[in-house]
Amino acid sequence: MLRLDNVTKVYKVGAFGGKTFTAVDGVSFDVRSGEVVSLIGESGSGKSTIGKMILGLTPATGGSITLGGAPVKAGREYYRHVQGVFQDPFSCYNPVFKADRVFQLIKESYYPEVSRADWDERVRTAIRDVRLDPGQVLGRYPHQLSGGQLQRLLIARALLLELKLLVADEITSMLDASTRIDVLNLLAELKERGLGVLYVTHDLSLGTYLAERTVVLRHGTVVEMGLTEKVFGDPLHPYTRQLLAAVPRLHAPWEDAEPTVTCHYHAGGASGGLFEAEPGHSVACAGLADCPR
Ligand SMILES: Nc1ncnc2c1ncn2[C@@H]1O[C@H](COP(=O)(O)OP(=O)(O)OP(=O)(O)O)[C@@H](O)[C@H]1O
Ligand SMILES: [Mg+2]
Repeated sequence: MLRLDNVTKVYKVGAFGGKTFTAVDGVSFDVRSGEVVSLIGESGSGKSTIGKMILGLTPATGGSITLGGAPVKAGREYYRHVQGVFQDPFSCYNPVFKADRVFQLIKESYYPEVSRADWDERVRTAIRDVRLDPGQVLGRYPHQLSGGQLQRLLIARALLLELKLLVADEITSMLDASTRIDVLNLLAELKERGLGVLYVTHDLSLGTYLAERTVVLRHGTVVEMGLTEKVFGDPLHPYTRQLLAAVPRLHAPWEDAEPTVTCHYHAGGASGGLFEAEPGHSVACAGLADCPR
């Protein structure tokens, strides 16, 4: 459904834009309908840049991003199918207006023909779908709602559209543990409805386990990707191992923490792109001192 092909983003930096910085470098992956794909990598690895390009908020410098075969075209029709939810839900609301104004804006631009009563019913249904009580959240100002409630209202808003893809960028990082689980359960439900979700995260949070597939990003390039259980069950790239080692493992003995690393890419005799170590599991060069680069 969503396909990124050799996508690159070069930012102009410096006071006069004279220097450039490559934030995303030749990234390719796809997100299918009814699938959660997690995009994981340390801070600054280019995850949000990828999300912004998918959402048409910034253009790609090279490569192509397509939804159902058609290139990203920011605008009303595109946003009917693709929506983003971000880390800080407060920033998506205008504090001067009641939070449910976000629903009114959707009605005005997408469903002007729908009657008021019919629309109110749709809004209430969407709010119940995200496990909120309409009576408790409608008519309130953003500061009168919790982060988790605002986050879920944004997802409810997205549900009112004919959504195909949701880009969820660090959506749970500001939430407490139990609210986080609620939001993750919600994502699991979206996936059941046939939506594709790109779940962006900088750490191995619970959300990663919701994802069928995982893409590990480092310095703007994909170092490893594939089925989540393969990528994290048998990580091949040292960076993926590092990410895993950062997660406290209560039952693993210390000696398991840093297994010896070989470059599976070169051991596999690969050149160009990623090496498919096994079906549904690909890895980039480990960049070891003895890698013949
Ligand atoms: N508008 C911009 N102009 C110049 N450089 C930018 C711009 N936006 C992002 N960058 C740089 O691109 C790199 C990737 O940024 P990005 O926001 O995509 O990272 P990220 O993986 O989402 O990180 P985090 O986990 O901290 O959110 C960073 O080095 C950042 O400084
Ligand atoms: Mg980010």
